[in-house]
Amino acid sequence: MKITLSVIKADIGSIGGHIAPSTELLHTVGRFIHAHGEPLLLDNYVGFTGDDIAILMTHRRGEGDTAIHKLAWDAFVTGTAAAKQQGLYGAGQDLLRESFSGNVRGMGPAVAEMQFDERASEPFLFFAADKTDPGAFNLPLYLAFADPMNTPGLLLAPKMARGFRFVIMDVMHTDADHVIELNAPEELYDIAALLRDPERYVVESVWSRATGEQAVAVATSRLHNIAGKYTGKDDPVMLVRTQMNFPATGEVLAPWAIGHFVGGGMRGSHQVPIMPVPLGTGTSWFDGPPLVSCAGFSMHEGRLTEPVDAFAHPFWDSVRERVAGKAIEMRRQGFVGAAMLPMAELEYTGITEKLEALERRFAVRAPARAVA
Ligand code: 13P
Ligand code: 13P
Ligand code: MG
Ligand code: MG
Repeated sequence: MKITLSVIKADIGSIGGHIAPSTELLHTVGRFIHAHGEPLLLDNYVGFTGDDIAILMTHRRGEGDTAIHKLAWDAFVTGTAAAKQQGLYGAGQDLLRESFSGNVRGMGPAVAEMQFDERASEPFLFFAADKTDPGAFNLPLYLAFADPMNTPGLLLAPKMARGFRFVIMDVMHTDADHVIELNAPEELYDIAALLRDPERYVVESVWSRATGEQAVAVATSRLHNIAGKYTGKDDPVMLVRTQMNFPATGEVLAPWAIGHFVGGGMRGSHQVPIMPVPLGTGTSWFDGPPLVSCAGFSMHEGRLTEPVDAFAHPFWDSVRERVAGKAIEMRRQGFVGAAMLPMAELEYTGITEKLEALERRFAVRAPARAVA
């Protein structure tokens, strides 16, 4: 029998600005899932990263299931009421619609789902990132699934030697999903040409070419594309199955030691390096820095083990120190050039209005007369 992993995540309010949800809010969401999860769910885990609450669910109902999506939506609606009671900032921020209509996709919450035949041992990783967008996963996925400099399994494991298929979405379109399938290693340069622009081209899923099994599911929604205006950032989640025919857990974690620059810091408008942090870490400096957590799980017939906190290991302390240094260096140049996102990506319309007003004040100088 196939198992489905569904993770649905939303920012429904946080303490002290965009720092972290309250314990009361987290418990309200957890209690709701516990009370209403039967008989839909096999198991669940509720946690937070920055100001975002994620509900991870295991079940047998497949992807995009209305009952599963409604369960998560209702938990977030109930949580929003609790957030308002506590006066939390941005209560209900990511719930863009008044009422539920079949599926939370396009309604604000981020969704990553995967249905598969459970292996005898089913190790997988659940990543959640705050103050960034889904393109933050592009580089780590490229390195983990397509680069033997990062992933020796591509050389050593026979099933991995066939490579992986990347499904990449052009997230500028809101009329319908625009996706392309590209095979590594033959089309490596085509994959790279797209992934270099993480605000536009986003890895949606990765598949084993040897077995056809799905390894990765990423939440690809871009909130400001859906809403057409600033609504908060599209803080993404991702599921990655590891080991056997897939990269080892350590090969998937390794690229996070780079602390690459991602879009979405402070007011959704800055380029700041992303910091791997322990589960349940809030934000701080400059409303960030952008952060990513990773919970490792094993599972049997949909029953989850407790999570193992992949970035709590002492190894990541020195990475965090280096990322903080990079972040401070970039901040020193304030609003200039690469520090801020390009105009089209800015989350606020204030600057566009300002530039339009200034445009009217530009004077056109008469060309200098040529001297005979
Ligand atoms: P305001 O609602 O105070 O503008 O805050 C939004 C915010 O902090 C986005 O970065
Ligand atoms: P969130 O999208 O995480 O709410 O952050 C808003 C923001 O831009 C804070 O600076
Ligand atoms: Mg927020
Ligand atoms: Mg957030």
